[in-house]
Amino acid sequence: MTIPGIQAIGIAVPQFTLPLTALAEARGVDPAKYTEGLGTHRMSVAGPDDDAVTLAVRAARQSFALGNIDPSTIGLLIVGTETGVDHSKPVAAFVHGLLGLSWNCRSFETKHACFAATAGLQNALDWIRAGSARGKKALVIGTDIARYGLGSPGEPTQGAGAVAMVVSEEQPLVTFEDSIVGSFTRDVADFWRPLDSTEAIVDGQKSVDCYLHALAGAFREYQRVSREVRGGTARTADFAAMAYHVPYGKIALKAHRHLRSYETENATSSRDLARLRNDEESLVAYEERVAPGLVLPRQIGNIYTGALYLALASTLLMSQRDLEGARLGLFSYGSGSCAEFFDCTVCEMAQGYARQANWTAMLDRQTVIDVPEYERLVRARDERAALRDVVPLAGEGPAFLGSRDRYRHYEG
Ligand code: HMG
Repeated sequence: MTIPGIQAIGIAVPQFTLPLTALAEARGVDPAKYTEGLGTHRMSVAGPDDDAVTLAVRAARQSFALGNIDPSTIGLLIVGTETGVDHSKPVAAFVHGLLGLSWNCRSFETKHACFAATAGLQNALDWIRAGSARGKKALVIGTDIARYGLGSPGEPTQGAGAVAMVVSEEQPLVTFEDSIVGSFTRDVADFWRPLDSTEAIVDGQKSVDCYLHALAGAFREYQRVSREVRGGTARTADFAAMAYHVPYGKIALKAHRHLRSYETENATSSRDLARLRNDEESLVAYEERVAPGLVLPRQIGNIYTGALYLALASTLLMSQRDLEGARLGLFSYGSGSCAEFFDCTVCEMAQGYARQANWTAMLDRQTVIDVPEYERLVRARDERAALRDVVPLAGEGPAFLGSRDRYRHYEG
């Protein structure tokens, strides 16, 4: 039986980053509300040369370089995004062209808010398990620019970036065994973006409640499937680390507490109950198993579809424990809503790969901007319509040049 996994990961962020302390000052808010209350320190800001396509291409190129992947081996390209650039043409088609992938490659875009990349990943894993890949690899990308209104409560939870994953059965960083997935879907109005709007509409507190409700629902289903396949009751204590969808850092603490109280309510033995009620142990577990996954997200902000996989990459990079052979719990949430709880097993090369990728150095190279510059960049993105004559390439990959005859043009 073929066990598929993620063979390479690449991450892209735009050139600019805004410290949330500066945003707090400009909005007349106590900076601690953002840095401690939300648990996020900086947010990446896209400029007018960037969109979902350019970020996706840069992340993919990094994954090819780090994983030594020959692009001609990609037979399936799936791009999950909620920052689509066209109602008909998928981001995947532009990405396919810019990467120069084979014409004999299936490519499409998936959408379900932040869940879209997970839909792509599960699809790619099943494609390999079913034998349809015939030796080819899949490239799955989550790419987004999060956007809420200036001065709105959602504003400090923006971010921009992409995570690309090469999925194959070769030399994996993590594997997905047994296809144990707990899915949970509920039609809710917590967060959405109408077709004519560049900004998301969100009922913030409701979205947090929906996230936590979906977490318990998906975990319950994961336990049921796991019981059927592996026997016994799966517990959070089984995981050496857990990566959650991270719209802002603090939500991972809320999520972890919520799962623990869900387990407490459903504990079947007094030993389990005593352990779960031990708050100190819960905090140690959080620091050891969850906090390493927040290091990169806290510096980048919400990248929507890529957010869970950014947390996974951060876990591999920052965990002080030797994770080889360990099982990790993963939770993906997309507003609207769809969620999945699933697991993966860490392979020998994963932590060395993450160290080599050195994603923190990439963040150190970002240009720190102030609030007037951030607001100027947001306006410049909206105003980018006409095709430019001069192309100031940042040097790291493609730039969006603008549109001619209502068709988008890229360079690089
Ligand atoms: P808000 O109303 O600005 O903040 O909204 P708050 O008043 O709830 O405060 C936030 C936290 O800061 C609270 O802590 C306060 O106590 C604390 P908590 O009670 O939550 O533990 N606080 C302070 N801490 C230290 N010093 C202070 C201070 N003041 C207050 N001085 C909210 C926050 C997240 C709702 C808002 O930013 C928002 O609407 N964000 C966008 C929506 C969002 O991120 N939702 C998350 C769940 S839904 C999801 O993840 C899906 C999503 O990614 C989209 C998709 O799927 O596509 C968003």
